[in-house]
Amino acid sequence: MDKRTAVVTGGIGGLGTAICIALASAGRRVVAADLGGDRQRIDGFLRRVEGLDVRFSELDATDFDACGAFVEALEAAGEGPDILVNAAGITRDTTLRKMDRAQWDAVLSVNLDSVFNLCRHAVDGMVARGFGRIVNISSVNGQTGQFGQTNYSAAKAGMHGFTMALAREVARKGVTVNSVSPGYCETAMVMAIPEEIRQGIVDRVPVGRLGRPDEVARVVAFLSDDDAGYITGANIPVNGGLYMGF
Ligand code: CAA
Repeated sequence: MDKRTAVVTGGIGGLGTAICIALASAGRRVVAADLGGDRQRIDGFLRRVEGLDVRFSELDATDFDACGAFVEALEAAGEGPDILVNAAGITRDTTLRKMDRAQWDAVLSVNLDSVFNLCRHAVDGMVARGFGRIVNISSVNGQTGQFGQTNYSAAKAGMHGFTMALAREVARKGVTVNSVSPGYCETAMVMAIPEEIRQGIVDRVPVGRLGRPDEVARVVAFLSDDDAGYITGANIPVNGGLYMGF
């Protein structure tokens, strides 16, 4: 069988990089799709994935047409995509009473619209080939809500609804759609939370520490496996026990 191609949006971010490494280590050809612009950040990423079948491709996942052209180019090269991991995400934390429209739009657009943009273009090829694995990186805060995150919690909860609906639509076509909900992990996004607030959160995590990005990535690799075909419409929490629920 041909090597499967995995696209990871937000691929050079904190979780994205770990996901790229895990998928490449599982034998995938990985395309890390992320914003260009910051050469230092891109070079740092490329150093971390050196020796693995991972390449960087500039993509603004909020741009519907750019996502279409990106998927079309992969298809033309016979490179799937077979696996799509939607990991592009940003925060603009502030209470609703202080939130402006731009903070709402930015978070909804990067975290949720991007999922539509990529899935909309990638799903036809997956259905035609009779195989696809879509994994949406949501968040514990999409399950519980978080103070200061009406925008982010709404986007992340929205990903769950999207995941379940699309899972139903493509279940008979060999395509699975699942979400993973990380808790607080050792990423720049979490390290940007003021120290005393972050410590207060860690104190409430039953496991007693932040998660490691590779602890999230291994679940993504598991869900992307050819043998994971009976898991669809599911959400797998990786949150150190911060939220336990069905
Ligand atoms: N619950 C209840 N009340 C709270 C609170 C909380 N968690 N945090 C603050 N408050 C209270 C304050 O005590 C204060 O009360 P008073 O007005 O009576 O004094 C009031 O709410 C306003 O608080 P602030 O002035 O601190 O509000 P702010 O707007 O300056 O700051 C904030 C708000 C920026 C959101 C800050 O609380 C914060 O950074 N919180 C962390 C948010 C967070 O966890 N983000 C996750 C980012 S990482 C991520 O998202 C990855 C992932 O998926 C897990």
